[in-house]
Amino acid sequence: MLPIVNALRYVVPLREGGSLPGVMEADDEGTWVVKYRGAGQGVKVLVAEIIVAGLARALGIRVPDLKLVDMPEQIAKYEADEEVQDLLTASAGLNLGMDFLPGAFNYDGSTPPPPDEASAILWLDACVANIDRTPHNPNLLRWGKNLWAIDHGAALYFHHSWPSRAPDPARFAAARFDDSSHIMREFADDVSAVHERATAILSRELIARVLDDVPDEWLESTVDLPGPEAVRAMYVEHLVERLARPDAWMPRNA
Ligand SMILES: Nc1ncnc2c1ncn2[C@@H]1O[C@H](COP(=O)(O)OP(=O)(O)OP(=O)(O)O)[C@@H](O)[C@H]1O
Ligand SMILES: [Mg+2]
Repeated sequence: MLPIVNALRYVVPLREGGSLPGVMEADDEGTWVVKYRGAGQGVKVLVAEIIVAGLARALGIRVPDLKLVDMPEQIAKYEADEEVQDLLTASAGLNLGMDFLPGAFNYDGSTPPPPDEASAILWLDACVANIDRTPHNPNLLRWGKNLWAIDHGAALYFHHSWPSRAPDPARFAAARFDDSSHIMREFADDVSAVHERATAILSRELIARVLDDVPDEWLESTVDLPGPEAVRAMYVEHLVERLARPDAWMPRNA
């Protein structure tokens, strides 16, 4: 599981974020962007954040460090904004923290990354079916010279149909990806080269280790998936099968 830190102080909400993430100070002297378990999107988006960040990191795509932020109920007491107070109250316990990158600004397209980096980001989003990286909503931060990828909660959408539909890795593996509005589309050059590299790196074992970062309590058991280990194994299966079907989803080289 990801390391746990204890929230000490709520600093400020990040109003640009639809889920109203907040900045918090924790007892590791760190400052964390916290995405709340009690937000309307539910904990599955936090699971997707952890998995996709883990895959991105393995591929050398920069993503902020992740930790779990344990929040006491009292932290809501001194918050004047009622909407924030409700969110904090509903989120006592474990939340997802991303290392706050001070002074980072949202990528505006003025200095695109080199083609290999653009290709890697496009490949990753196609593989995990992340539709949330468009000029309108880049979800890339520029921090110093470099780009950092954030906000992966929309990826791996298949889990939202659990438990009403039985898990079906082959179905996800074959799902197309529409890259027509992807922010890196025009800067990517060799997506197949990324695929070759990625399949060598993203072994079943590595993916399973990424799943170990997810806390048990965010992995909802269902009739088909009795217990957190079964849920983890099903995510691994979806990703392993997806990696074997680039014909279905991989964007063509420009
Ligand atoms: N690690 C970070 N360091 C600094 N700023 C950040 C960080 N993470 C997020 N932000 C800022 O907060 C904003 C919202 O973050 P994010 O996109 O992850 O939230 P969200 O609620 O999922 O947003 P959306 O409205 O796109 O669904 C970002 O656009 C960025 O400006
Ligand atoms: Mg966002």
